[in-house]
Amino acid sequence: MNKRPSGERETILSVKDLTVGFGDKIVLDKLNLDIYRGEILGFVGASGAGKSVLMRTVLRLLPRRSGTIQILGSDYDTVDEVKRTALDTRLGVLFQHGALFSSLTVKENIQLPMREYLDLPRWLMDELAYLKIELVGLHPDAADKYPSELSGGMIKRAALARALALDPDLVFLDEPTSGLDPIGAAEFDELIAQLRDTLGLTVYMVTHDLDSLFSVCDRIAVLGQKRVLVEGTLDDMLAFDDAWVQSYFKGKRARSIPRAENSAGHPVE
Ligand SMILES: Nc1ncnc2c1ncn2[C@@H]1O[C@H](COP(=O)(O)OP(=O)(O)O)[C@@H](O)[C@H]1O
Ligand SMILES: [Mg+2]
Repeated sequence: MNKRPSGERETILSVKDLTVGFGDKIVLDKLNLDIYRGEILGFVGASGAGKSVLMRTVLRLLPRRSGTIQILGSDYDTVDEVKRTALDTRLGVLFQHGALFSSLTVKENIQLPMREYLDLPRWLMDELAYLKIELVGLHPDAADKYPSELSGGMIKRAALARALALDPDLVFLDEPTSGLDPIGAAEFDELIAQLRDTLGLTVYMVTHDLDSLFSVCDRIAVLGQKRVLVEGTLDDMLAFDDAWVQSYFKGKRARSIPRAENSAGHPVE
């Protein structure tokens, strides 16, 4: 699987001809998308276009009508149950709504995936939870707090810690900065970029935050007309002849320049 010519990117997730629908309504129609190891892919599209549906389908939370999904070179449909469960642990997720269970502390939330997939003694789960808490920049005191006792930014960080509980290769973040103020959102973006650099994480980020797209995303994909309409760099988006894409990226671009502009695609300090 890792035998590839040097310089060629490793495809970590490959979605081919994916069709998903509910009743008579087709939401995704023969959609194709590849995600490469180590990249931060920003995924955008109109509200209701199917961004969350795509994520939930890849996570096997929604059924698909047709198409294939390969994770780390393995096809979900052809592997046995043991391997499928092993693949599930390679993926982490931060859902758009209800990021944490309100009746559980931060520590207990982070330990949920560990309880589901691993058989670890309590002291080890505690140590791992504290490690994840530190990784996302929360104070250790947050461990025993309930979500209602945390700020919006802290909740997102705790939810990210839970997404990282099993040391995944790929994390799905569904609108992680929505509801945060611009400073909180910028700090969260910096954390994502830092985790990508230190852990070698691959990130699939659904976002409406143009600042995030400009500052941390290596590549952008646009969902439209039930498929990936265009993917590439910001320049590719700006050059793409589609009314929605044009108004989305050009309409607000000027606003984001202070946080975005340098050629490496990283925020200017
Ligand atoms: N479980 C479901 N049952 C029926 N329709 C759904 C379900 N989940 C999503 N949809 C529909 O699929 C479309 C895409 O939804 P979604 O992926 O949530 O959009 P977004 O791009 O805003 O994340 C919407 O029309 C939504 O109503
Ligand atoms: Mg959504």
